Amino acid sequence: MSVSSDRVTVPGLRARKLAGEKISALTAHDYPSGLLADEAGIEVVLLGDSLANTILGYESTLPVTLEEMLTALRAVRRAVRRAMLVADMPFGSYHCGEDRAVEAAVAFVKSGAEAVKLEGGERRIGVVRRLVDSEIPVMGHIGLTPQSVHVMGGYKVQGKSLDSAQRLLDDALALERAGAFAIVIEGVPATLAKEITRRLEIPTIGIGAGPHCDGQILVFADLLGLHRGKKPKFARQYLDFHALALEAIQAYRKDLATGSFPSASESYEDTTASSLKG
Ligand code: KIV
Repeated sequence: MSVSSDRVTVPGLRARKLAGEKISALTAHDYPSGLLADEAGIEVVLLGDSLANTILGYESTLPVTLEEMLTALRAVRRAVRRAMLVADMPFGSYHCGEDRAVEAAVAFVKSGAEAVKLEGGERRIGVVRRLVDSEIPVMGHIGLTPQSVHVMGGYKVQGKSLDSAQRLLDDALALERAGAFAIVIEGVPATLAKEITRRLEIPTIGIGAGPHCDGQILVFADLLGLHRGKKPKFARQYLDFHALALEAIQAYRKDLATGSFPSASESYEDTTASSLKG
C-alpha cells in the first residue's frame, strides 16, 4: 500500500471520515516503534499510557507518571514525521483541577504532541473546553476506560444496558460539543459504536468496539506479540515477536557456547598483536 507524504492533521482526519476512508491508529512508546508506525503509513500515532503496562512493567496504566510519559513522548517525537502524534494524559494529570490539566497538556505540546487524549465523557467536559480554548486539540476516550478500572470493578465491556448505552452516547455528543476532534471508543458492543459513529461529525476510533468506527487503534505490543500470555479478544496479533525473539536470543547463546560466534568474518584483522613484546 502506498503512503502519502502529507502530514496528518485534525482537519485531515475529519476529511477522512467524510470520505469514508478508515483511519489507522497505533500506539508507539519509544523511538523504534514510532519509526515503524510512521513508515508503515499509520495516520495517528498515540503515545498511550499503555506505556505503563506494556513497556514499564506496571500492572495497570494508573502508576505511570507525567515525567515518564514526557520522556517517552520525546523519543517517539524524534521518530514520527508524518503521522499525527497524540499523547495520553496519564491518570492524575487532569483530575486535580483544570489549571493543572492545562499545564500538563502544555508540557506535552512543548515536547512534541500535536494533541492530547483523556478518558471520560460528560464529567470531563470542563477540562476539555479549557484545553480546546488553550489551542490544544483533544481526543476523547469513552467506554472501557482503563484508568477507571477500580470504579468499573475490572476491565469490562461497557454500554451493554440501555441506560449505560445512552450515557455513552450522551458522553460522545458532549465531547463533540466541547470541541474534541475525535473520540476513542473502547470495549463497547459493535452496534452501539456504530450508532455513536453515525451520530457524530468527528471521527471515532475503535478498539474492541467492532468494525463500524471511522478508524481502529491497536496497542503496538498486542499487534506484534511482544508479550506471551492472554490477549484481549479484540487484539489481532500479526506477529509472534516474543517467540521469534526468544528463539534468536537462544541461538545467540548457543553459538557463544559452541564457539561459532564470533567468527573470523565478525572479528577485526589482527596485524599487530603477534609482534607485541613482553
Ligand atoms: O494507552 C493506550 O494504549 C490507549 C489505547 C488503547 C486507546 O489508550
